[in-house]
Amino acid sequence: MNSTPEADWLNLLIGLLQGAQLQLLRALDALGLTQHVHGQPAWPWARRLSGENLLIDLGQARSLAWTLVFVAVAALALLLTLFWRRPRYYLLALVPMLLIAAPWPESHVVLVPATPASFHASPTGFAAASIAQGRVLYQQNCVACHGADGKGEGPLAASLAVWPPDLSGPLLWRRADGDLLWRILHGTRDAQRGGQPTMPGFAGKLGEAEAWALVDYMKAQGAGQSLRALGSWPQPIGLPDMAVRCGSQPPRLLASWRGQRVRIVAGDAVPPEDPRLVTVLLRPPSSAMATSADCVADSAAAWEALSLIAGTDQLAGTQLIADRDGWLRARGAPGKTGWSDDDLLCRSERAPVAWGQGAAAPPADGLGALIARMDAQPVRFVEGGFIH
Ligand code: HEC
Repeated sequence: MNSTPEADWLNLLIGLLQGAQLQLLRALDALGLTQHVHGQPAWPWARRLSGENLLIDLGQARSLAWTLVFVAVAALALLLTLFWRRPRYYLLALVPMLLIAAPWPESHVVLVPATPASFHASPTGFAAASIAQGRVLYQQNCVACHGADGKGEGPLAASLAVWPPDLSGPLLWRRADGDLLWRILHGTRDAQRGGQPTMPGFAGKLGEAEAWALVDYMKAQGAGQSLRALGSWPQPIGLPDMAVRCGSQPPRLLASWRGQRVRIVAGDAVPPEDPRLVTVLLRPPSSAMATSADCVADSAAAWEALSLIAGTDQLAGTQLIADRDGWLRARGAPGKTGWSDDDLLCRSERAPVAWGQGAAAPPADGLGALIARMDAQPVRFVEGGFIH
């Protein structure tokens, strides 16, 4: 999807729609016109504009983009009638013509059912501690139906009216985080069977923070499953946040380096520094060895979260690289020396960066090639598109 020439305008359109809806919600909230649920302003309508469907249906996305252009021109024509008196009637006649001529998209594609939490943002910062908390809650509340691996084959699954979906596939990335939160807390209903409940809601048992932790855990777990099954991260996954100590300075959060590339090295072996990346040594929870690394993280939750995402019980020796936006992009398997752009696990289909005439010289080393490709292909379709 990233590779198509449409990618740029589509990314812009989807981001614009999401931003406009969010601003509308904020404005309503500022005017006191909307209630709060689960700690954030509630979306007051039963429907919302869907960026995620536009990603799938390019024809409708194009229609919507053109319709927005037509509507904008119509609005401009209306505005002009106020200032420009003589051609007023021509301008006024133009408005309905434009509105009729616009290639309106199909409403069932562009508008999808919303929940009051559709625009809620997760407050967890995708912290390792939240992922670890989610893991415990998942074992306690969800395994019976969804199965330990999230594939929907828990012991109770066969007895349900609707089979639980595969949570290790792209499903979670096609949903707004807030909709996931809502469904965990309030359950799901089957629209085809007269609104019969299909999954119970957990609002009586779990709080908001716990439901957000479950969302984090399910994503980390899904990323690890993909890596094991496909050898890549087809859905973008963030670098979990964790506390890091550098020298004698007070601990700071990993997210505070956003804007720089970060490399996590799991284990006790101190890696050589590289000026192109912030390097953090992630030590095993029980490690008592002294270390000379500049920056160190050593919480058990951080180790657990990255083991999940890397889909392995043997994390020691693994290296992970996150881009400037905080997305995990590359993995170096244990024992592997040197990098190549093949290590990029979250990538688009676009051809590798072309080093044509007049362009900068190709980077001499594998890590340089990897970084060049990572920078040239940022993760897109995040705002409102949910997947890239
Ligand atoms: C009694 C069985 C059962 C339990 C327990 C259960 N689920 Fe589900 N879950 C389902 C079924 C069935 C569906 C499919 C619902 C549908 O498509 O209508 C589902 C759907 C989902 C979905 C997808 C929703 C979507 O947007 O399509 C998520 C996410 C989910 N469950 C998370 C959880 C979490 C987290 C827990 C534990 C807190 C949990 N489930 C516990 C049966 C269960």
